[in-house]
Amino acid sequence: MQAFIIFVPQNHLLLMLKNHPLRAYNTFGLAVKAKLFAEATDIASLKKLCQHDGPKYILGGGSNVLFKGDYPGLILRVANKGIQVIREDAEQVWVEVQAGEAWHQFVLWAVEHELGGVENLSLIPGTVGAAPMQNIGAYGVEIESVFDSLEAIEIATGQQVTFFKEQCKFGYRESIFKQALKNQFIIASVTFRLQKNPQLNISYGDISKTLEEMGVQQASLRQVSDAVIQIRRSKLPDPAELGNAGSFFKNPVISQDLFAQLQAEYPTIPNYPAVNGVKIPAGWLIEQDGWKGKQVGNTGCHARQALVLVNYGNATGQEILDFSTRVIESVHAHYGVRLDREVNVV
Ligand code: FAD
Ligand code: EPU
Repeated sequence: MQAFIIFVPQNHLLLMLKNHPLRAYNTFGLAVKAKLFAEATDIASLKKLCQHDGPKYILGGGSNVLFKGDYPGLILRVANKGIQVIREDAEQVWVEVQAGEAWHQFVLWAVEHELGGVENLSLIPGTVGAAPMQNIGAYGVEIESVFDSLEAIEIATGQQVTFFKEQCKFGYRESIFKQALKNQFIIASVTFRLQKNPQLNISYGDISKTLEEMGVQQASLRQVSDAVIQIRRSKLPDPAELGNAGSFFKNPVISQDLFAQLQAEYPTIPNYPAVNGVKIPAGWLIEQDGWKGKQVGNTGCHARQALVLVNYGNATGQEILDFSTRVIESVHAHYGVRLDREVNVV
């Protein structure tokens, strides 16, 4: 492997690696390479790397990306670390977290400091910088509920810009950074507003049942976090053992009319209220359609969670993408619902 060094003013030297293997940098475990690879551990390095000519892709923990093949430009890995309290009042604490910090480490930090708001988001893989990209969510909470602001570097100019919540246009697995401002900014840090006397949110899914099984009566933040960790471990495959990127598809929101038709045919179809219609679990559709646990070549739908596509060892990104297209077309043909991918295809 070849490397060369670039100079970051008033700071340090930055290593650029050529033809760098990315297997360890994507949770699908795909054996692809980057023409160039660099890791930025501070904001000066992020700004310097923005000046690099040619295509660039911003990478955090690689837990929501599918590489179709080798990347022909620079993979810029965001790795700046740090968690700092910047302000507090009687009820709340504002915490600025650098983008390269692991999301779950931040959750553990919050739980440790008895600050509430992110405990339901325990054990989500990836970095803090990627969390606003799709407004990560689980167990009834999305980060928009604790989001204050973020600092981002505009790739074209190297300028630092602050984004407040309204500007981020958060939605279900959505933000402005996946839409109008796609590939235009590097998120450098995120400020969260956490609660000193939090209202616990244990109504969703199996949380209260799991707490009961744990023998808990009055749950603490730590116990809610532990319950979420336990549920997630029982449902989702560990990428260290079986390559995956969590939910491959989003849960579709369909019209009331289509929902009424489906419900007439499948009276037990699970459903949740949504802003512009009815949300139904993609995992249910995929399972009903017979794909759950099905393996095709080196890929397939996980046996415990139909929404999770897996790499059984030697899959290529293209193979997983082609399989996902088959699932999309099959579900569409049988239920009239078109699934959208959650995973970012590179
Ligand atoms: P990456 O995969 O590296 O990147 C994702 C996208 O964000 C890419 O488009 C990338 O270009 C961009 N990006 C990354 N960092 C930055 C940055 N600093 N600035 C600008 N752009 C950036 N997600 C959920 O919402 N809820 C879940 O419950 C959940 N469970 C999961 C379970 C498993 C087992 C796995 C493997 C994934 C799961 N995910 C879940 C998906 C994933 O963990 C999240 O989307 C996470 O936020 C991705 O973080 P990352 O650092 O790995 O991002
Ligand atoms: N279901 C099935 N078969 C399956 C899987 C699910 O029928 O194989 C049905 C069941 O009715 C179940 C319902 O789907 O009750 C919901 O399943 P689950 O609670 O496992 O959640 P999900 O909708 O599959 C979503 C998120 C997850 C998040 C969990 C918990 C999306 C796309 N996925 O999954 O996020 O962790 O809820 O809140 O919204 C991710 O985004 O990567 C991710 C893992």
